[in-house]
Amino acid sequence: MFELTYRCNFKCKHCYVPPRTRLAKELSTGEVFSIIDQLKGMGCFYLGFTGGEPFLREDIFQILWYAKKRGFQIIIYTNASLLDREKIRELRRIRPNKIDITLLGVRNDTVTRITGVVGAYVKIMEVIELLYDAGLNVGFKTSILKDNAGEVKAIRDFSNRLGIFLRVDSKLFPRWDGAHIPFRERGIKGVRSLFRLQTKPFADLASNPSSHNVKESSLFSCGVGVSQAAITPQGELKMCVMINYPLFSVVNGSLRHSWAKLVRLVRVKARRKRVNCHTCNLEGYCLWCPAYGWIEKKDFSFCDQETKRHAACLKQLCESDAVKDTCSL
Ligand SMILES: C[S@@+](CC[C@H](N)C(=O)[O-])C[C@H]1O[C@@H](n2cnc3c(N)ncnc32)[C@H](O)[C@@H]1O
Ligand code: SF4
Ligand code: SF4
Repeated sequence: MFELTYRCNFKCKHCYVPPRTRLAKELSTGEVFSIIDQLKGMGCFYLGFTGGEPFLREDIFQILWYAKKRGFQIIIYTNASLLDREKIRELRRIRPNKIDITLLGVRNDTVTRITGVVGAYVKIMEVIELLYDAGLNVGFKTSILKDNAGEVKAIRDFSNRLGIFLRVDSKLFPRWDGAHIPFRERGIKGVRSLFRLQTKPFADLASNPSSHNVKESSLFSCGVGVSQAAITPQGELKMCVMINYPLFSVVNGSLRHSWAKLVRLVRVKARRKRVNCHTCNLEGYCLWCPAYGWIEKKDFSFCDQETKRHAACLKQLCESDAVKDTCSL
């Protein structure tokens, strides 16, 4: 994952990027190219461009072409609002593997409330239509929030009508600086209606809770830092988008060396066992990940309150369809 900028034209209430981060100086075009070359040299195949909002970079098309010509499979994570007919024509020539659009609502007032931008909804819908007509491969992603909790079904129906795959996240991360501001935005009603729609992974979870067991033997089960990693807009290699540690500058051509250090570190940390899970009755419902522990306590094995609340709510939902409004999430 290459975070090209932390700047953004939206102010989403739940965003994990702290506003102050957005002011940091960014890599030049040449430095981005040099990192792409290093990734290529190491056999990296998939390259996701994210942010902030990647289309805020003036050189975004130069960067996309550069990656394309070096044979990368490209995914762009975007709020879609900065695209227009001309840019979409250029994207048609580049043909990224996927343009992953964050779709937080299918109503004007909902999108305005969440993004803080009047007109965002109309613009996003216009762009989705243009992308659809251009035949580009688009995906949707949404987070369940207080403001869109009643709209999960409508978002899903909209995606289905277009035949576009929708990924729904019911769990929120804190902000990187540890602030719990995103948690204030969580919407239990949405988790419940998502559950009722039997959208994966809840359908699996209800029938087989143990399939989601937290592995006690390894802290990292997602390939973080080993088969996947992230690069910041300042040219630092890190474990993943959510874990801003360690930060190895790779601007000077040291990606191979830094990656080797990262792999060693992840392997050492992975040996640490989780201590409480074997006695926890939430284990089968738990979507724990080390990023939470890191952000909250600078401890990869720490189990945070948000993970517990989320797991307790899923357990409740799985055990009873008539969920009480007292659910603690
Ligand atoms: C940070 S954005 C960057 C790319 C682009 N600006 C966008 O919105 O798609 C990547 C994704 O993270 C999601 N996201 C932001 N803050 C989050 C949080 N606190 N927890 C979980 N997902 C979050 C956004 O909704 C978006 O889908
Ligand atoms: S569009 Fe993406 S980066 Fe921008 S504020 Fe929203 S979630 Fe954050
Ligand atoms: S809620 Fe915490 S203690 Fe329980 S299974 Fe999940 S990570 Fe382990």
